[in-house]
Amino acid sequence: MTPPKDFNDRMLSLGLARVSEAAAHASARLIGRGDEKAADQAAVNAMRDQLNMLDIKGVVVIGEGERDEAPMLYIGEEVGTGNGPEVDIALDPLEGTTLTAKDMPNALTVIAMAPRGTLLHAPDVYMEKLAIGPGYDKDVVSLDMAPAERVRALANARGVKDSDITVCILERPRHEDLIAEVRSTGAAIRLITDGDVAGVIHCAEAELTGIDMYMGSGGAPEGVLAASALKCMGGQMWGKLLFRNEDEKGRAKKAGINDLDRIYSRDELVTGDVIFAATGVTNGSIVAGVKREPGYLTTETILMRSKTGSVRRMIYRNPVK
Ligand code: FBP
Repeated sequence: MTPPKDFNDRMLSLGLARVSEAAAHASARLIGRGDEKAADQAAVNAMRDQLNMLDIKGVVVIGEGERDEAPMLYIGEEVGTGNGPEVDIALDPLEGTTLTAKDMPNALTVIAMAPRGTLLHAPDVYMEKLAIGPGYDKDVVSLDMAPAERVRALANARGVKDSDITVCILERPRHEDLIAEVRSTGAAIRLITDGDVAGVIHCAEAELTGIDMYMGSGGAPEGVLAASALKCMGGQMWGKLLFRNEDEKGRAKKAGINDLDRIYSRDELVTGDVIFAATGVTNGSIVAGVKREPGYLTTETILMRSKTGSVRRMIYRNPVK
């Protein structure tokens, strides 16, 4: 898909970094305070204020929820000054509210921007996810394979033993069978308590993070954000929406999704060019968390563009008023 001429991703990307930085900055004072809601609200407010300064005609397609559930950054909210390119916005002002409240690793503020109509309008349901990093043949693993088969296929592709593979999985009762099957291969599992956007991104920097593959179900909106990141960094990802009841199916239909059994590849979740920014709130393996020193807050942001595959890490030291 040829991007519209006015999607000047090079210029827009710095603005996007400011948006995720502002959200991290705002939630910093709530790290480790046991108040998920307050931390999320602070990030939402700051993200929205900063987003509305950008010269874009933006629509939130992945946001805080449906209009009647979320007063700010709801799905369909128009953001930006209105002067500029028509874009889709996917965001999670605080990915890992519990991680932040408990001061546990890998809480991030996350935002992606793409030309209008190119991000999947994923409803707020679960998504079965599978991701690996760059450098593998296309479809070397798939959601159609059993979990143990995926481990074997990836180990074969890397020319290593099954036991040399590390899989990242969200620690949830619903994943008990998945965890047991992956363990039966001898592979290692990095269990995370929250934050599967970071979980998926970990695969793209396997040498740094030690994670080769991500598996399991998590939020579908987070799936689109993770696919955006992976499209910039390289790597493959697949997602299938999961429905627990008729209401959830209705949400999908409302979002324009008719084939409820479809498996989406990375480039079907994000069909055009995309820019992605995430700022560390708590320390993590992708970016450092917010650091406080007298009079200053320092953040680290990862800023990436799929068009160029550029991955930039930016340290921002800002006086605290
Ligand atoms: P929050 O940002 O709302 O804290 O979500 C964290 C998260 O762990 C996501 O990364 C993940 O996709 C989802 O929750 C998993 O949902 P559940 O907790 O219902 O298993």
